Amino acid sequence: MTNTADYAVQLDCQDELAGFRDEFIIGDSELIYLDGNSLGRLPKRTVEQMRCAVERQWGHRLVRGWNEGWFTAAGRIGAKIAQLIGAEADEVVVTDSTSVNLFKLATAAIQARPERRKVVSDELNFPSDLYVLQGAVRLASPTCQLVLVPSLDGISVSDDSLRTVIDSATALVALTHTSFKSGFVYDMAAVTEMAHRSGALVLWDLCHSVGVMPLQLNSSQVDLAVGCTYKYLNGGPGAPAFLYVRRDLQEQLLSPIWGWFGRRAPFDFKLNYEPALGIERFQAGTPPMLSLLAAEPGIDLVLEAGVQPIRTKSIRQTEYLIALWQEHLEGLGLKLNSPRTTQCRGSHVSFGHADGFRIARALIRDMRVIPDFREPDNLRFGISPLYTTFAEIHQAVNRTRQVIERRLYEQHSGARAQVT
Ligand SMILES: Cc1ncc(COP(=O)(O)O)c(C=O)c1O
Repeated sequence: MTNTADYAVQLDCQDELAGFRDEFIIGDSELIYLDGNSLGRLPKRTVEQMRCAVERQWGHRLVRGWNEGWFTAAGRIGAKIAQLIGAEADEVVVTDSTSVNLFKLATAAIQARPERRKVVSDELNFPSDLYVLQGAVRLASPTCQLVLVPSLDGISVSDDSLRTVIDSATALVALTHTSFKSGFVYDMAAVTEMAHRSGALVLWDLCHSVGVMPLQLNSSQVDLAVGCTYKYLNGGPGAPAFLYVRRDLQEQLLSPIWGWFGRRAPFDFKLNYEPALGIERFQAGTPPMLSLLAAEPGIDLVLEAGVQPIRTKSIRQTEYLIALWQEHLEGLGLKLNSPRTTQCRGSHVSFGHADGFRIARALIRDMRVIPDFREPDNLRFGISPLYTTFAEIHQAVNRTRQVIERRLYEQHSGARAQVT
């Protein structure tokens, strides 16, 4: 019987990545954490790394730390991320937040195509990305406009829909590779090629992809990308993000924020701005050093496990979750809000229910399951293969079934907290 708890345990026994769970702090082994696609768990090594960064580096070495690894940390850790996304070491730097990086790169791209007045994105994109693009377009010129490609099913966007909008007026196509609600994944190489055929630049947001999806930015000819380190890379709340600029574009593009960390030889303290020659030009000010150092052990763990084995396990786990949903939850009114096709789906699965928010509250408060909720009705289960077990998925489906069958969610109000 493939739907039993024993079968889930058997799958865990066969799992080659199972040992990585022990690399994380699991404070409560009864708590099922399915929100690693929002904030990843804390790696044990990060605790050590932070002790060293605070006590030894900051406490004892003080300002000398800048010449003892701090100044080069953004590039060094960026080079590790480059290995995860199919890029060269000198094409990635860790800096700022995803939103700020998106602004810098989108603005640089729009300025590099002054004769073109259109930026294309889609209506599944993360709202912060759309706000940033609205702001970038507004600053660029009154004639510049942001065009959003619709999603016909609320889950995915077809290549045909993109093709009708991307044209010779398009300066930039800015999309999120794995959609934050449905988990829909674009064919990065195909969409990039489509945009290039029209002469547009392409900027990918990799927040929900990095660390769980094999990415080949160089061989897909990707121009620009941004992403965060606090989801599947387990970098910690508010960990700094990264940006990628293909090497041959670096000197053609200028960041709109001319800070000293983006200047050639910043410690010359010259009064005029001269952009640094490489990827460093896209930095702005002093990096948040403690958060930056905290992000490194999680990236190391993904490198050690390998993105391809992580993706293989992620596919098995999302398939398993969907099979259990079909057996136990579909008949209770929970619908699948994610793609059925494996290669079009990332590492989270969303289920729609009119009472999705209250079901999420009941799971968190009464059932020791942490999923998350995305408006209007998405109960989102994030699979983080380095620590999510098959047994947890089995248990989570069981507990969700109980919440719906016994209508436990009716005891919870629909009032939203500040963060959902
Ligand atoms: C796809 C996507 N893009 C952008 C962001 C915003 O990232 P930040 O808060 O680092 O700017 C998020 C945050 O969750 C996200 O999921």
